[in-house]
Parts: sequence; structure tokens; C-alpha cells
Amino acid sequence: MSSTTADSTPAGTTDAGFVTVPKGLAKVVVTDTELGDVRGDEGFFHYRQYSAVELAQKVGFEQAWHLLFHGHLPDDDELAAFTAEVGRLRIMPRELADLLPGICATTTDSLQVLRTALSAWGGVSGIRPLYDADADEARAAAMAAVAVTPTILAAAHRLHQGLEPISADPGLRHAGDYLRMVTGELPSARDARAVEQYLVATMDHGFNASTFTARVIASTGADLAACLVGAIGSFSGPKHGGAPSRALESLDEIGTLDRAEPWVRGRIEAGDRIMGFGHAVYRTRDPRSEMLKAVARGWDDPLVVLATGVEDAIEKALAQLKPGRELHANVEFYAGVVMKLAGLDPSMFTPTFCVARVVGWTANVLEQSRDPKIIRPAAHYVGPPPPQPVPTGIRTPQPA
Ligand SMILES: CC(C)(COP(=O)(O)OP(=O)(O)OC[C@H]1O[C@@H](n2cnc3c(N)ncnc32)[C@H](O)[C@@H]1OP(=O)(O)O)[C@@H](O)C(=O)NCCC(=O)NCCS
Repeated sequence: MSSTTADSTPAGTTDAGFVTVPKGLAKVVVTDTELGDVRGDEGFFHYRQYSAVELAQKVGFEQAWHLLFHGHLPDDDELAAFTAEVGRLRIMPRELADLLPGICATTTDSLQVLRTALSAWGGVSGIRPLYDADADEARAAAMAAVAVTPTILAAAHRLHQGLEPISADPGLRHAGDYLRMVTGELPSARDARAVEQYLVATMDHGFNASTFTARVIASTGADLAACLVGAIGSFSGPKHGGAPSRALESLDEIGTLDRAEPWVRGRIEAGDRIMGFGHAVYRTRDPRSEMLKAVARGWDDPLVVLATGVEDAIEKALAQLKPGRELHANVEFYAGVVMKLAGLDPSMFTPTFCVARVVGWTANVLEQSRDPKIIRPAAHYVGPPPPQPVPTGIRTPQPA
């Protein structure tokens, strides 16, 4: 036996000295981090030493980004310099802008466009493997990738609609400029701030699947674009970042409050999961969902009344149908509501999540790149026992 997993063996140590861990690596600690953490039982998460929810309520996108990259909230001068740097970097490199219509022609999914475009960005900007880059060079690549992400997404959205992309305005703040580049109009202060609060609250969230993916790639010394392409691929799955538009679709399908309970029963009986509910770590309410509910209540809109009523009804039904699982609304349930009310199309919900999460991914990549150890776990082989002779009838191919 080379190693074992929790599929067949309880957590422990094998005769060969391999450590076995629970399936899905749940609760397995793989490294140290100074970036933040999630306390699932308490319903609390933090960036550095601050509550992330409190940060979302009190600071802007650039301040939280500075905190994650540099370890402290910026003073006024630092913030002005950082905001100016971000504004300049938000402008898309010409070579990438030229490629974007071709990339958009391959798919109508803006998240897929971002995945391909960031790979192309790595090429046109000439970034080098993290293995060869010093700390300043790696930081510069990370700043540029985060800054250009909203510009790529907004341009993709407009190109898909047959509209001309709108250039970034370096004089605006990041969240508001993103909304402007998507919609073509300067957003109201309420819309810009609501989206900014959402973005700050979703920048980072412990060792989630996409962050771990990014760190695994960074541990090989690959370049930053490679880390982001992998992270986006991991993020795109409905169990991770792909749920907010599906959660809003559920609200549309339910339509009126009285239909919520039979709807959720029907779904569970059919073996479906309710999108926007449940979490891999939280065993109590998701603090991001609670915060976003408060943000959504800033609108006097029937959608908010429907969403809060449906949340209660689904939560009660899930408590009966899946007793003891503690299934509550997660970040994605109210994310869709807030983004819709702020004027974003559902096709942009998951991509918009990336505008935020790319900060966390890159901060994690920078941290991981300082660790020389490659991440390389093991698996428990459960196939036919080796070595067996290759069957005699197999013919060796001749060289062509
Ligand atoms: C997020 C998620 C993947 C976490 O999964 P997980 O920690 O692996 O949870 P488990 O798969 O162990 O689920 C535990 C139990 O709750 C059930 N469950 C979990 N989430 C559920 C949901 N959203 N709807 C219905 N049942 C759910 C599972 O079916 C399982 O039931 P079982 O014990 O009868 O088999 C899961 O909750 C999910 O798929 N949610 C919907 C997608 C979503 O909103 N994703 C965004 C996450 S922020």
C-alpha cells in the first residue's frame, strides 16, 4: 500500500508512513497563511486581523486590496498612490484589446472569455514564471492582472451584446468604473457602493477550491497567469462560484412566496441541490449572506421581499428534509439579488465574483510563491494489484 484516503481508510498514518486525510480534505490544514481565515462554526471570516464583514461595511475596494497585498490598511497618501496605480493598470493593453473580439467569438460565457483572456494577457505582458521573478516583479504582475480583470469582463459583456467596449477611466474608483464599463452609464452612488460592498466581502475566503488550485500551481513556480487560469477553471463549477445566477433563476421559478415550500420539496425529492444554500465550511449562517441581505434591503423592491421570504421558507424546508445539516443561505443567494438590483445582467454574476476573488487568488499566489516547497500529495491506488505482465497479444507499433 502506497497511501490511503478516507474513501477506504479512516484518517491516520499508513504502514508506509503516508498520512490519510478526510475526503475532500475537509478540515485538513496544509500551510500557514497571514491572509485570513474562515471560522465555519462561528460564522466569521477575516482578512488579516480584521472582520471581513466589518471591512465591507467600512472600507472601499482599493483599501481592502491594499490590506491583502501589503498587510495594512493604507493611510491617505498610500491610498491615493495605490488608487492611481490601479486606475492606470485598469486600461487594457492594446494587444489584448485586439484579441478580445476573437476570444468572444469562441464563447458567450464571459467567465470563459476571462479565462482565455488572462492566459493571453500573460503572453502579451511578458510575465515570467514566479520561479524566476523577484518579489517586486511578482507583485507588479499581480497588480496588473487584478486591475485589468473588470476591464476584460466589461468588454466581453459589451462585445457579446454587439456593443463597443468602453475604456477604463483611471480617475474613477475600481467598483464604480467596472459598473460604468459594463452598463455604459456612470452608476448611482448607491449602486456603486452596493457592488463595492459585495466585492470587498468576496475578495478572499480561506482555502476554498479555487484558491487552493491557484496555490498548487504557484507552488510549481509557474507564472501568475497560469495560476489564475487554473483558479478560474476551479471557480466556474456550480458547487463553487457558478451558483448566483442559478439562485436568482430559482427565485424567478418560485415567483410567489406560497410556492417556495412545494418547490423546495420537489427539488429535494428529485435529488437536486438548492443553489445558494449550504456551505462546505459554515455550519451556521454565512456572514456574507447576512451582510448582503442588509445591503439588498437598501432597495425598496419586491425582489427583496420575495428573496427574504423564500430564504425563510427554504431554510425551514431544508431543516425538515435534511435534518442536522445546518443548510442556510450562502453568499450566492443574496449576491444575485444585489447585483441584479445594481443593474448587472445575470450572465455577469459569476464573472463579477471574479473581479473580487482575483484579489484573493493573487494575494495567495504571492504568499505561496515565497514557499519553496512544491505541493504534491499522494493517492490510494485501488485498481488491480501491480505489477502484472503486459498481455502477450499486444503489438508494439512500428515507427511511422
Ligand atoms: C456548497 C456545497 C457544495 C457544500 O457541499 P458539502 O460541504 O460537500 O456538503 P455535503 O455535500 O457534505 O452535504 C451535506 C448534506 O447536505 C445536503 N446538501 C448540501 N447542500 C445542499 C443544498 N444546497 N441543497 C440540498 N441539499 C444540500 C447534501 O445533499 C448532503 O445530504 P446527505 O447527507 O443526505 O447526502 C453544497 O452545499 C452545495 O452544493 N450547495 C449548492 C451550490 C451553492 O450554492 N454553491 C455556492 C457555495 S458558496
